[in-house]
Amino acid sequence: MRLLVTGGAGFIGSNFVHQTVRERPDVQIIVLDALTYAGSEASLAPVHDAVDFRKGDITDVDLVDELVAQVDVVVHFAAESHNDNSLRDPWPFVQSNIIGTYTLLEAVRRHGTRFHHISTDEVYGDLELDDPAKFTPDTRYNPSSPYSSTKASSDLLVRAWTRSFGIHATISNCSNNYGPYQHVEKFIPRQITNLIDGVRPKLYGSGQNVRDWIHVEDHNSAVWAVIDRGRAGETYLIGADGEHTNKEVVEAILELSGHARDDYDLVSDRPGHDLRYAIDASKLRTELGWEPRYGSFRDGLAATVGWYRDNEAWWRPQKDETEARYEGLGR
Ligand code: NAD
Ligand code: TYD
Repeated sequence: MRLLVTGGAGFIGSNFVHQTVRERPDVQIIVLDALTYAGSEASLAPVHDAVDFRKGDITDVDLVDELVAQVDVVVHFAAESHNDNSLRDPWPFVQSNIIGTYTLLEAVRRHGTRFHHISTDEVYGDLELDDPAKFTPDTRYNPSSPYSSTKASSDLLVRAWTRSFGIHATISNCSNNYGPYQHVEKFIPRQITNLIDGVRPKLYGSGQNVRDWIHVEDHNSAVWAVIDRGRAGETYLIGADGEHTNKEVVEAILELSGHARDDYDLVSDRPGHDLRYAIDASKLRTELGWEPRYGSFRDGLAATVGWYRDNEAWWRPQKDETEARYEGLGR
């Protein structure tokens, strides 16, 4: 199988490439990545010789066409991915997430190529904290932020191209990922690296918002289950029953880093901050027989804390610029 992985130098995409090289040596991989502030060739260093890396933009019609023509399957991770940035400047989100997905869809339509679209549970908006409900594939789209609305737009383009033009596409919507190679702007790596730098973790608002955490390797094994066995035109929700308040997560990171559990600061809240996300992944489990490998969030988090301690050379170059951006937002 020949695979084009967009966004393969980012967090989830690079982990997907590592996992694929490790577990599927028969797959040939081309990575297309623009190396924005969020992408780094260093994330692909361990698999450098096994991958054909192409620096380029998913909105570049000619380049996308040339690469799509060479593969059997496109797995589309590339996106602007951070809510806080989308509140500061939504334009790159419209460009990469909407126009970029459109450009890929037109190319797979021309070449008859199988397309898997990586998306987020944030397209569904949020749930109340005390509501037992979870997101299902039938939940109404109701995105809150520029980030989630551009991801919702991209999902709708995929659905329309499937129905109107008959492209062979699948979509997966996953909950919050954690693990190695995640940019230090995101919640978990920000707090781990702040503690390494002697800075107290920062919780937005009351710290009571809930996220449904999944290890990045579990997300990617589910993506492979969809590529292998998913039905064309279907949407699969990916999650591993990992609901925790942000406060619980910070307390666990503090404990794993050898600090008191209350050694954090509450800072100003994110505007429009979604309260709670929760995934019902029963379709993925029953239809495709997928199960997560990481049984315990605490063990996965401990491994992640260890990874950032051992890989300072990877994240250090991002840190000052990221914290300067947060200072501008007052968070
Ligand atoms: P990331 O920001 O770490 O990586 C994104 C990658 O895409 C970077 O390497 C960047 O250089 C590249 N990129 C951005 N715009 C591009 C463009 N126009 N052309 C080519 N490359 C471009 O993001 P991530 O956390 O790895 O997320 C990957 C995908 O998974 C995204 O589609 C995101 O919406 C989705 N997702 C993320 C999470 C999460 O918790 N991080 C959860 C569910 C879904
Ligand atoms: P984030 O990693 O930005 O992911 P998302 O917005 O896609 O859920 O944030 C996860 C949660 O952590 C979210 O509720 C916002 C919160 N948060 C903090 O409390 N402090 C921080 O420093 C950051 C970056 C996020």
